[in-house]
Amino acid sequence: MSYAIIGSGAIGSALATQFTRSKIKTVISNRRGAASLEDAAQAFGTSVSAAETADALDAEVIILAIPFDSVGEVAKLRHDWSGKIVVDATNAIEFPAFKPLDLGGRPSSQVVAAQFNGAKIVKAFNTLPAAVLTEEPRRSDGNRTIFVAGDHADANEQIASLVTSLGFSPITLGKLAEGGLLQQFGGALAIHSLIKQRQGKLPHA
Ligand SMILES: NC(=O)c1ccc[n+]([C@@H]2O[C@H](COP(=O)([O-])OP(=O)(O)OC[C@H]3O[C@@H](n4cnc5c(N)ncnc54)[C@H](OP(=O)(O)O)[C@@H]3O)[C@@H](O)[C@H]2O)c1
Repeated sequence: MSYAIIGSGAIGSALATQFTRSKIKTVISNRRGAASLEDAAQAFGTSVSAAETADALDAEVIILAIPFDSVGEVAKLRHDWSGKIVVDATNAIEFPAFKPLDLGGRPSSQVVAAQFNGAKIVKAFNTLPAAVLTEEPRRSDGNRTIFVAGDHADANEQIASLVTSLGFSPITLGKLAEGGLLQQFGGALAIHSLIKQRQGKLPHA
């Protein structure tokens, strides 16, 4: 699979750190253009290369690490997203109140999905603060977990597999209207950082 991280801020950089750590190739882009990212990409090493967003969108898996209100700008760059998995790492937040944006009860990833005609949307990587998402997920006591939700089981499996390759333990929660709601900002699982304990590390009863 080919990967692109759109957004090079706190979450995009955390993800690029994990791709580097696991030696999985990805491109990364931002709004200012590839030239602004050359130094950062060099610091990440050979796994991460800087790209213009329009070119990054050629990847099979596109991770949105951008503000929720920028999603439309990226979605408009193509008319047809068939064959692609778009991973929604955004949180729909109303600023400066820092409360969930009022979407009339719609899961935020459904709002994202409606803008990416033909794509399979998977919600992932949005529940951990960037500083935690950056940390080594393979710990001595187990692996940090990442929640995964989406309406297409095959896409959920592919992203769960990526999550595993990055050293996390995936927890697949079902569809956007189920797991997606739990994961999104204001949902029950937002900002929960779980560790899947190694069996040998379980406390004795
Ligand atoms: N920060 C966290 O702890 C955290 C945790 C969970 C989820 N999230 C969510 O993750 C998303 C990203 O948050 P963040 O904290 O990483 O934000 P951030 O630090 O402000 O970075 C946002 C990035 O998005 C890029 N961007 C904005 N519009 C774009 C466009 N149209 N095309 C390409 N790139 C664009 C920006 O480009 P430039 O650099 O060129 O401006 C920047 O690199 C948000 O939806 C946020 O709610 C954040």
